[in-house]
Amino acid sequence: MLENSNISSNIIKPKVISQFTYYIETYGCQMNVSDSELVSNELEKIGYTSSDKIELADLILLNTCSIRDKAEETVHNRLNSLHYLKKNNPKLLIGVIGCMAQNLKNELLDSKPYIDIILGPDSYRKISEIVYNRNNKINHIVDTKLSKYEVYDNMYPSRNSGVNAWVPIMRGCDKFCTFCIVPFTRGRERSRTIESIVKEINLAIEEGFVEITLLGQNVNSYKTPDGDFPVLLEKVANIRGVKRIRYTSPHPKDINVDVLKVMSKYDNICKNIHLPLQSGSTKILKMMNRTYTKENFLNLVKVIKEYLPDCSLSTDIIVGFPGENDFDFQETLDVVNKVEFNFSYMFKYSSRPGTKAAQYTNQINENIKQERLEELIELQNNIRLKVNKSKIGKIEKVLIEKNSKKSDQFWSGRTDGNILTIIKKNNEKVKDIVDVLITDAKGLSLFGENINNKGQIS
Ligand code: SAH
Ligand code: SF4
Ligand code: F3S
Repeated sequence: MLENSNISSNIIKPKVISQFTYYIETYGCQMNVSDSELVSNELEKIGYTSSDKIELADLILLNTCSIRDKAEETVHNRLNSLHYLKKNNPKLLIGVIGCMAQNLKNELLDSKPYIDIILGPDSYRKISEIVYNRNNKINHIVDTKLSKYEVYDNMYPSRNSGVNAWVPIMRGCDKFCTFCIVPFTRGRERSRTIESIVKEINLAIEEGFVEITLLGQNVNSYKTPDGDFPVLLEKVANIRGVKRIRYTSPHPKDINVDVLKVMSKYDNICKNIHLPLQSGSTKILKMMNRTYTKENFLNLVKVIKEYLPDCSLSTDIIVGFPGENDFDFQETLDVVNKVEFNFSYMFKYSSRPGTKAAQYTNQINENIKQERLEELIELQNNIRLKVNKSKIGKIEKVLIEKNSKKSDQFWSGRTDGNILTIIKKNNEKVKDIVDVLITDAKGLSLFGENINNKGQIS
């Protein structure tokens, strides 16, 4: 078996082959979506074409996530169900890439020896060589070396067409929240140069994308000799053709006044911040190593509203972290009530082997976690509806994205604050930004009418 550093000794340079197809299934966060686009492009360079049907592909890659136990379980089940395809087509290659590959490495082969390729998130530069070699009968390949430097500069993604382009600006995480596997699967923080990010965005604009989402495990830890996150954000805002900019995810500790000033200065930077709270209890936040208190967080929200009065906030919350008692949970509900996030991802704590919190002795019983999650979801759903209803009668700028799922008489788009909005079609087009009078709010969505005379445009 080839492993890590000795791969290069057996490398045969890939040649272009045209008869093969690939299929990538992506799990986890937007960073994985973006990585899958990079990997697709590398495969296309050696002549692989994308297949719509997994059963017909010659190469199946699962780009995986380890963030919670369930995420790994889903991929284990998927791999079990893919095994039969291999029985019908012995030449089929199956690869596991991404965070689970990094987390479990060779262990994956113990239960699933039919996996051909295991590649961690810093090894994608080698993917075409590895696939080529594997086709030429070199044994399983496991490459999970993390790099301090790899940012995939000069590798361009093969993006699906659309409105929004994901653009990674940094990789890795040095924060080591005690519950989180990411610092282990993604390695240390490193930033791309401003120059290469700007180049990639210009290319994306040429390809027809109008919204740019800057991505990173901690976007605002972005650091280069030419400037930090606020400098980058301002550069991006000045690129011609960029109608909208979003970024995800920042760490509350690293949101500073400079970022907020740049956000307030440019209309094309959406007034929407994803601000992961995790818990409202200062005691739990300390045990999580989040480096802020409940008061710090509430104060930050106040400062954000001073600079950006209409800024919408979304968040991530974990319930049932070890040691969380009823009072701590009430503290979380209190912050949720006070801040009124317009959207929240809510999770039950999942113990991740290897992290510090997995060793804590005061783990919370599953039923209590479930009850707390349900209570939190109910509260948040009510708040979201209230926030959405408060938009009725107001005018929102909506970027038209696609046909609405329910009817092709309607468009689906997003407000600046990232709320899904449905409008009746008039003479606007996909990628237009139109003024929409909000007339109703139901479920996750807003409903409204385009009030621009000719369906025009920003
Ligand atoms: N870098 C981002 C988050 C990446 S992970 C940040 O700091 O915000 C996305 C979310 O998954 C986290 O915000 C957290 O809410 C959740 N998460 C991470 N580890 C988890 C765990 N062990 N159990 C439950 N949820 C977890
Ligand atoms: Fe995980 Fe914390 Fe890093 Fe986010 S900041 S990726 S939650 S360790
Ligand atoms: Fe999952 Fe890795 Fe993203 S663990 S959330 S795919 S960084």
